[in-house]
Formats: sequence, structure tokens, C-alpha cells
Amino acid sequence: MTTSAPQPRTRHVAARPSQILQALGDNRRQADPCTIVILGAKGDLAKRKLLPAIYQLAKDKLLPAGCDVLGMARDPMDDDAFRRMMGDAVRASEEIPEFDEAVWRSLAARMHYTAGDFGDAAAYQRLAVRLEEIESRRNPFEPNRLFYLAVPPSVFPPIVRSLSESGLAPRLIDATQRPWYRIVIEKPFGTSLETARTLNRLVLELFSECQLYRIDHYLGKETVQSILVFRFANAIFEPIWSRQSVQHVQITAAETVGVGNRGRYYEEAGVVRDMFQNHLLQLLTLTAMEPPASMSADAVRDEKVKVLRSLRWLHDADIDAAAVRAQYKSYRDEPDVAKDSITPTYAAVRFYVDNWRWTGVPFFLRSGKKMARRASEIAVQFRDPPVLMFRQETREQIAPNVLTLRIQPNEGVSLSFEVKAPGAVYQLSRGIEVAPVAMDFMYKEAFGETNPSAYETLLLDVMLGDATLFTRSDEVEAAWKVVDPLINYWDKHPPSRMPSYAPGSWGPTDADHLVQAQGARWREPE
Ligand code: BG6
Repeated sequence: MTTSAPQPRTRHVAARPSQILQALGDNRRQADPCTIVILGAKGDLAKRKLLPAIYQLAKDKLLPAGCDVLGMARDPMDDDAFRRMMGDAVRASEEIPEFDEAVWRSLAARMHYTAGDFGDAAAYQRLAVRLEEIESRRNPFEPNRLFYLAVPPSVFPPIVRSLSESGLAPRLIDATQRPWYRIVIEKPFGTSLETARTLNRLVLELFSECQLYRIDHYLGKETVQSILVFRFANAIFEPIWSRQSVQHVQITAAETVGVGNRGRYYEEAGVVRDMFQNHLLQLLTLTAMEPPASMSADAVRDEKVKVLRSLRWLHDADIDAAAVRAQYKSYRDEPDVAKDSITPTYAAVRFYVDNWRWTGVPFFLRSGKKMARRASEIAVQFRDPPVLMFRQETREQIAPNVLTLRIQPNEGVSLSFEVKAPGAVYQLSRGIEVAPVAMDFMYKEAFGETNPSAYETLLLDVMLGDATLFTRSDEVEAAWKVVDPLINYWDKHPPSRMPSYAPGSWGPTDADHLVQAQGARWREPE
């Protein structure tokens, strides 16, 4: 008889056959032919994210046949110059693993450009002429239009007004109407509850909700979508997914980069508008929401909105104890940043979801720039065993069970638990020695390098007319309602000295006290 070797500390699930992915790919619905009109086509977003995503869709044969791209920006340029500029951007993109000349050539042939000022009515007439010209060549004739607003928020209102008034994007009655006209609006959607409401009012006067796609690119990440699958395709987690078993939840979005050349935007935004109002609250709602009635866009979004509405209001009197802000040292030396800036680049906030499932369970959210590591994750920490029976004398010696959903990098899921430590220390009189281990699932190991970029997924969803991964008007307002009190309180109570943290650290020590007050401590993402 052979004795089996000790199990490794980390076990991986068996890799799923690549045929499964192939089959999934083959089953994807085909999107309708359309023209993707990029307003702000020479900007950073278009070059770094949109064009690489469109190219990758073409490469993966997911771009519908008969799909054209029409760029619009202020500077005059002909189609060829636009193609060259975008070709350079796609070649330089980190999101493109391998550049394929043939794919690019056939995509470039369908790329066009028109110059125009977004405030000038004549520019939209020229845009209409180009669009009709492109659409008239499409066979069969399907003049669907996707307008992507890759522009600063200050120009959203004049653009949406012009798209409507010029007849370029008529209002639809419902999502089934053909041809379709869809408008994609980048974040930030407003800068406060009031401005978001004003913008919502404007866009809903001009278009139906089914035409509006408010982007939060976090929702396009595979691992973020997988939170729903993890929760609702596995029955074993549901009974422990509540206040009965969960001690607290930590949601982290840490970046190693600073604000770089985005100082002007960031000075106005700060970390709460930039990361909490959207990405972090999205992660919280997906973690805390009830099972939706179906996976339809509205059913999912209804449940998410319910979570946002259940979040305990942050009263002025509670904020000092519930939230921490800080700025990385050297932030004030960044371009376009004020020398006396008090814009936070880090925040940690304790939230409570006051509903039957979660009441009393703290949800700690934190995000910062220039942190020790790039890591976004959701860590669900479970309660301690009610009675300790093993050798450990204090609770601290037993590591709590933690289920970690790693959003990025090292995308995957891990569950930590205690086992008996093997070996000699076993003494009945003194008890058994226990040791923490983890079961770990890595997307890369199971599926290979298949993760499409968030923008690839989201663009395809817009073409398919699937709004599940986009934020509905009530959702975006509910999220502003959550963060507005915090932003207003901090604006009204500037610190006498802005708390700072060292670049490359895990943030200020005050953030440690925030979690310690609830008997917890921050995890260090791996
Ligand atoms: C953006 C923020 O929405 O998200 C940036 O404006 C941030 O400040 C970025 O760096 C993080 O996204 P990702 O996908 O790089 O984690």
C-alpha cells in the first residue's frame, strides 16, 4: 500500500476543455450590422480602449459583417490619416496580444472620419451626409447607428441635443424597433445627484431608456460578470451568504499608478467620484443583491437598485468614524494639481446594507492610487467558529474562512480554511494543531488567456442590444445618493492637514483603525 503524499496547500479545479469555450463562442448571438460613430475619435479613450476593442472583435469574428466605424473630432483629417492614426494606436495597445495585418486592413477599409466642432450644427449635417453615404453601401440596407460619446462630460448635453435635433438619432418606441439608434455615455455620469438627475432628465426627454447605455467599464470585466454566476449557479454558497455566516466584506480596488496626466480631471473628481460612485458600488451591489427574477437586464438592475437603496445613509455625525481619506505624497507635484490640493486619492468607507440578509455586516470599501499592488477583489470573511476546541488558545490563532473573488489581476476565486497540521505535534492531551490552507481557482489555468477586454464585451453588448451590464437611470442616481453626503461632508470639512500615505504602501494607518474598530483587519491582496 502506498501512502499518498501530503496535499499541496493549494489545489486547483480541473481545467475545463477548450471545446466548451469554442461552443460558447459559436453560440453567441450575432450582432446587427451598424455604424459605430465615435464622437471624440482622436481622444485617449478612442485610441487606448475603443479601437483596440473594435479590432479585437473583428479578429475574433464577432464584429457583424457590414459594420463601419465613423470617427468625428475637431481636427480636419482625411479617412486615410484617421486610419493610420488608429492603426498606430491599435499596434501600440497593450490590450492586443498579437497584431494581425490582414484583420487590420479589412477593418481599416471600413473606417471613416469627419471633422467638426461638437457645438456646430453644420458639423452634424456633414456627419449625416457621411453616415448616409456609408449606410447606402451596406447590403442588406440596415442603417443602425451606435453613437459613442468618448468626450468630456461637459459636452454631453450639446452632443445629445444635436444628435436628436438633427434627426441623426430619433427616439425609439421600444427596444425591438428597427433600425436602432443607441447612445453610449461614458462615465462620469454627472458629478453629483443633482447633475446626474439633470443629465438623466435631458437624455430621457430626447431618447428612450432602451437607447441609453451608461458605461461602467468594470461591469464588462469577465470576473465582475462572474460574480452573478458564482452566486446564482452554485447552490452551496446561498445558505452562508448572509449575516448568519458572514462577519464582514472587504472590497478593494487598489492601483499602483498615480493620476498621471489626468490631474485636471482628477482634481475635480477625487477618488469617491472616480471609483466609489461607480466601480466599487457596482461590486458591492453584485455581492449583496438578492437573486433576480431572471437574468434580464431589468430584473438584474432592479435587484442592484434595491441594494443601493438599502445602504445606510452616511450622516454627517457618523462620517468621521465611518470614512477615511488621504492623498499620496507627491500627488501635489503631479501636472495640473494644485499645490494645496485636498483632493483624496485614497478612501476607505464602512457601509451597512440595512436589509434582512445583511443588517449588521460591515462592508468595507477602499480604493487608492499609488498603492502597494494593483489588485481589485471582494473578500467575504466568515464568522469564527462558536467554540474553539483545538490547540489554539485565542481566536487570533485561528484564521477566519475567507472567500475571495479576485477581479484582477490573477483572476480567480479562493477559499481559505483550517486543516489539521500534519506531523508530530499531535498530542491528545494538548489538542490538534491547525493550519490555514486555501483552495484556489485561476481563470487562466482553467480557460487559458481568453479574457476579452471590458470594452470588447461592452461594445458587443451594445450592438446586441443587451443593457444588463450598463447602468440604468435610477441606478446611477441611487449611487450618487449614497456618495453625495460623503463628498459634501468632506468638502465642507477640509482637514487642517491633509492625511497622506507613502506611494507603494497600503494607505494611511487611519484606515487600519477603521476596520480594527469592527474586529477586522485589511487583507493584503496576493
Ligand atoms: C477608471 C478611473 O474609471 O477606472 C481611473 O477613472 C482608474 O482613475 C480606472 O484608473 C481603473 O480601471 P481598471 O480597469 O484599469 O482597473
